[in-house]
Amino acid sequence: MTDITINTCHKLRDVSPLLYGIFFEDINYAGDGGLYGELIANRSFEYYDRDGETDKSKMCWETIGNGNLSVSKRFPLSQAHSHYGRLSGEAGDGIRNLGFCGEGLAVREGEVFLFSCYARNASPMKLTVRLADSRGTCFGQKTFSLVRTGRGWTKYRLTFTADGCCNQVFPEILLETPGAVDLDLLSLFPQDTFLGRKNGMRRDLAQMLQALSPKFMRFPGGCIVEGRSFENMYCWKDTIGDLTQRPTNWNRWQMEEYQINGQVSLDYFQSYGLGFYEYFQFCEDIGASPVPVINAGMTCQWHEGLLADMNALDKWIQDALDLIEFANGPADSTWGGRRAAMGHPEPFRLKYIGIGNEQWGEVYFERYEAFQKVLSEKHPEIRLITSAGWTAEGEEFDLAYRWMNANKDKAYAVDEHFYKSPRWFLENIHRYDSYDRSLPKVFAGEYAAHTHENTGERVCNWEAALCEAAFLTGLEHNADHVVMSCYAPLFGRTGHQQWQPDLIWFDNHSAYGTPSYYVQKLFANHVGDVLVETRISEDGETLSGLAKIAGKSLQVSSTLSENGLRLYVKLVNLADTPKEVRLCPDQPISHCTFHEIAAGLEAVNSHETPENVSPRVSEPLPRDGSLLLTCEPYSVNVLELDL
Ligand code: AHR
Repeated sequence: MTDITINTCHKLRDVSPLLYGIFFEDINYAGDGGLYGELIANRSFEYYDRDGETDKSKMCWETIGNGNLSVSKRFPLSQAHSHYGRLSGEAGDGIRNLGFCGEGLAVREGEVFLFSCYARNASPMKLTVRLADSRGTCFGQKTFSLVRTGRGWTKYRLTFTADGCCNQVFPEILLETPGAVDLDLLSLFPQDTFLGRKNGMRRDLAQMLQALSPKFMRFPGGCIVEGRSFENMYCWKDTIGDLTQRPTNWNRWQMEEYQINGQVSLDYFQSYGLGFYEYFQFCEDIGASPVPVINAGMTCQWHEGLLADMNALDKWIQDALDLIEFANGPADSTWGGRRAAMGHPEPFRLKYIGIGNEQWGEVYFERYEAFQKVLSEKHPEIRLITSAGWTAEGEEFDLAYRWMNANKDKAYAVDEHFYKSPRWFLENIHRYDSYDRSLPKVFAGEYAAHTHENTGERVCNWEAALCEAAFLTGLEHNADHVVMSCYAPLFGRTGHQQWQPDLIWFDNHSAYGTPSYYVQKLFANHVGDVLVETRISEDGETLSGLAKIAGKSLQVSSTLSENGLRLYVKLVNLADTPKEVRLCPDQPISHCTFHEIAAGLEAVNSHETPENVSPRVSEPLPRDGSLLLTCEPYSVNVLELDL
């Protein structure tokens, strides 16, 4: 029997209110083809060939019957949407969109869809939009009339309802009358987006993020912020305003070198329909503090590592200043006005900005300082986050810490990334115990336990999640200094990922959380405001396996709510044997909820068995002021105690 005594009167450290958050990057089709609710791929015929070898403007589209589709730039919709499609043919001819990854979309009976497009035609005509499977069976359609527009464009909006269920249908646009029509920004959304927002997010995926109760969201990347060239780097200003004003950018994760299992993602682009306004709004909707990451005037250091000249950084620094105005400025300021015009006159309450993503070296810190000088002077209220580079030790990491030692006041926090083996997570449970509290705080901005690294498989299994859970107890012990943390990456589109493991997997009609998802959810939803003293009796056991690596079977953390009425106790059992535990807080327990996840180390979730590894909940009764529990082998146990 292991005795655990909790002294709630002995408060050890504050727990950062932002400890658990999320990190969103459009990798693995997380944005376009994922969280962003748009169902038409290459909706504006703007896909392009970055090498100038193949015409991609018609990618994701095919013709129906004898229909002809040509792409032109002669009289475009806007500068940002400089291409458009011309459909011509006889009645019944048309075009079909293949959807993201060529997988179309799923429909459920009664589901309402919003279709819109810009059209231009020389004579009145009729079009039909419909959803049909590969055999031509129709699952919902609507016919609409086009007025004669001459040289101008007219926007059409309509709704229609699916009259059956199918896991794979494709949007089709058919001519009802012979002729020709120019089309641009063809868009199809489910009406039922997250919170019903227009241009909104896929509801099930957004809800899974909301269920994590993230206290912040880091966005939009990741390497995507840096890009592979100056043109490819993420520019937030391209992502706001009317959709007709947002240019398309190729997604750096479409590069062949990132493809897993030989799959190709050459149709992976950023429409920027999911842009900075949508990110800020989503943060507000789910109660997360926005943490945008901006480009520090350098492209990805893993690849080209192009550097903006130190004398030419003004453009990037101005972008950062404008971003602060966009988020927080009054509605009558230039950028605050852009926000207000999009429907949000109130500020978005931006408090944190990451300068650069995963940057390292002198070249980074000299650029960081140029940003910091201006931003700290003009916006002392904004907390700046610097980067410790791509890994949590080694030359570049040490350099970052040397820089911080010499520049303690120039950053609020440093972003540390660690994609490591499960063993590393166990060996590093106490990593932060000895960190110098006078240095900038720590933001564990990207991490995940990578199993089977030698074969490249990196399975999202229980071993990874269990070791992450043990590590997180260590973060809770140091949450005065490690103020933010988030797992990465967030999403993977099944069969089309460029990176794994990922926290949430989805296809067109379903989504599931990995074991790591359930650990994140349990930890984030059950954490107090202050760490309290916890004593564990030694039972003289012989350690083996994971417990031996960690130096102990049970990893424990106890945190108390600010009002002292709720105690959260986390017990991670790394042993392959059960642990009988007697838990004795120094105050009477009036109610207890017990969440436990236990599984074999190789256990995984899947689309077929989404909750194979997930929490069981019970309400054990306290006896004589204590609780008797069994912590199963390889288990994560969270107790929510009302005192
Ligand atoms: O999370 C995947 C990638 O890992 C991120 O884009 C980058 O910051 C890191 O290298």
